[in-house]
Amino acid sequence: MKPVTELTSVEADKELETLAREIAEHDRRYHGEDAPTISDAAYDALRQRNAAIEARFPLLVRADSPSHRVGAKASEKFAKVLHAKPMLSLDNAFADEDVTDFVARIRRFLGLNDEAELAFTCEPKIDGLSASLRYENGVFVQGATRGDGSEGEDITANLRTVKDIPLRLHGTPPKILEVRGEVYMTHTDFFALNQRQEAAGDKPFANPRNSAAGSVRQLDPSITAARPLHFFAYAWGEVSEQPAASQWEMLQAFKRFGFVVNPLIRRCLTAEEILAFYREIGSARASLPYDIDGVVYKVDDLELQSRLGFVSRSPRWAIAHKFPAEQAETVVEAIDIQVGRTGKLTPVAKLTPVTVGGVVVSNATLHNQDEIARKDVRVGDSVVVQRAGDVIPQIVRVILDKRPSKSTPYEFPTICPVCGSHAVREVDEKTGKQDVDVRCTGGLICPAQAVERLRHFVSRNAFDIEGMGEKNIQAFYDDGLIKEPADIFRLGKDHAEAIRNREGWGEQSATKLFDAIDRRREIGLDRFINALGIRHVGETTAKLLARHFHSLDAFTAAMKAETAIADLVAVEGIGDIVAEAIQDFFAEPHNIAALERLRAEVTVQNVAAPISSGSPVAGKTVVFTGTLEKMTRHEAKARAEALGAKVASSVSKKTDILIAGPGAGSKLAEAQKHGVQVLDEDAWLALIA
Ligand code: IVH
Repeated sequence: MKPVTELTSVEADKELETLAREIAEHDRRYHGEDAPTISDAAYDALRQRNAAIEARFPLLVRADSPSHRVGAKASEKFAKVLHAKPMLSLDNAFADEDVTDFVARIRRFLGLNDEAELAFTCEPKIDGLSASLRYENGVFVQGATRGDGSEGEDITANLRTVKDIPLRLHGTPPKILEVRGEVYMTHTDFFALNQRQEAAGDKPFANPRNSAAGSVRQLDPSITAARPLHFFAYAWGEVSEQPAASQWEMLQAFKRFGFVVNPLIRRCLTAEEILAFYREIGSARASLPYDIDGVVYKVDDLELQSRLGFVSRSPRWAIAHKFPAEQAETVVEAIDIQVGRTGKLTPVAKLTPVTVGGVVVSNATLHNQDEIARKDVRVGDSVVVQRAGDVIPQIVRVILDKRPSKSTPYEFPTICPVCGSHAVREVDEKTGKQDVDVRCTGGLICPAQAVERLRHFVSRNAFDIEGMGEKNIQAFYDDGLIKEPADIFRLGKDHAEAIRNREGWGEQSATKLFDAIDRRREIGLDRFINALGIRHVGETTAKLLARHFHSLDAFTAAMKAETAIADLVAVEGIGDIVAEAIQDFFAEPHNIAALERLRAEVTVQNVAAPISSGSPVAGKTVVFTGTLEKMTRHEAKARAEALGAKVASSVSKKTDILIAGPGAGSKLAEAQKHGVQVLDEDAWLALIA
């Protein structure tokens, strides 16, 4: 095999295609059929070669590249594990009374008199995800998630990477031992992971529990290995010989076998002692390095546990005493507006920093305009904030007694704070109600939306610029090479040097990109309109508009006129919402300016009025199949449609003509079955000439 450094771009292109196909096939055999035909090492080598070629030729990265697919579709791909003993859940207690009731209930059930001792093992309730670890002859053989309690997912490979999970037990463990406990992530590790996620452009996790769960369910164990996970052992499933007679002693045995047991556990004898434990752990909660959401009380004696048994899915011998959501009081210093990738304006309260359950909180989401109005949150208000497991805290309520006398209700902006375009709230056509979200209309120029818009602009059904993938768009945008669509067409003129000198780029790849861009300087009106990314205007609506207005001049002139809405709704297939969104777009001077700059770079082809009557194919349903040699499939479709034909994607009785190129397969057979007229490309061109 040629070293990657010696590949020409043509060879690289070819090899990437082969690799994509091969790797997809191995994935299918491995995950779909559980029957791989190559070793893991050989498979890894294929992926590495693919990654190395892509690193050297970033422009050649394919849409179906295997590198886009790491860890995807995880849930379908883990094997199922039937738990030897079900993994149960716990009943909850919230008030002290629930706990005294719990103790009294157990004493009654067991018929204990007032003097009889009843011990409980009390443990913090770790907020992670539970896992079951199976050991045979002291060796870790299988690890599973809880799943629905009866059946979980096999995550053995991932759990092997967790340092608190011994791969081989110490001492003299039972021959078969299933240890159960909680996989969790510490606060520090969680925040550091989220920082890395954000730096890499990935979505941050909402809380340590989600990040632990997400890490454990990675398809690629090397990703799990890079995530700092921990494990506390607190329960068990199948055990061949019971190593101890009480919960407490079992946990001590787990320690001897090499597990980590939570150091805060305590044996208590009365409801009072139990409640004292609850309060102690409650005050320690904020300073613990991991999340807990309560404490768990378990009857200590295993004999008694088995006498008590279960009620449906929870043991009668244990209960979880939950902590209330953590709250604190602070002041709203400002209300900021964040603009998302799709133009949605989200209000965020900037708070005087306050510690809520051990985490410093300085922002709280206010969700939307209605939410602010409902809670009447104002700048200067004292508020109660709450962290209910999630990292993004919420404002529970305003403390009205503390409201400054001069405060005024918050006014939601009607201008996008990022780009200055106007921001609007849509009305739902069916319900007549206003949408909850306010959106910026400055689609083409708003920096908050720019990358998303540019990505859409170059996508397949818009300008279809080869080599302008998401990665390049983001990188060029970050480096200030492109800000709006017109900039793409000026890259070759304004930034040719800068691009040639970028890492992973060179003369050849830069020229290839500029050529690809130049090839798209002429474009059909429908694609052009679709590319603008006007809200609610996709491929289909763009086509309707193009066919109706015929030229970009006619379209823009109509949109600037006062009769715009009336003109739009007169188009078959366009309703009020779409019409308003289009009008909003053209009412924004920033958009018009960006549109003009784009027009200076490209030529937009007019759409000829359909020659419906005179055309031999008007009203006919046609299907293309096989390879077309004289034009692209897209062009063929557009021409057929312009002549009044309907282009369908599959053959049926209703099909009038099948245009079959080389390589035609099942559609051709189908057409012959239905007696549909079949033409080759030349015959078709002659027919419509
Ligand atoms: S005992 C049969 N102990 O809480 C009892 N569970 O609400 C099995 N949890 O699914 C559970 N810390 O994920 C137990 N010290 C602890 C726990 C604990 C956290 C979780 C566990 C379980 C859930 C039940």
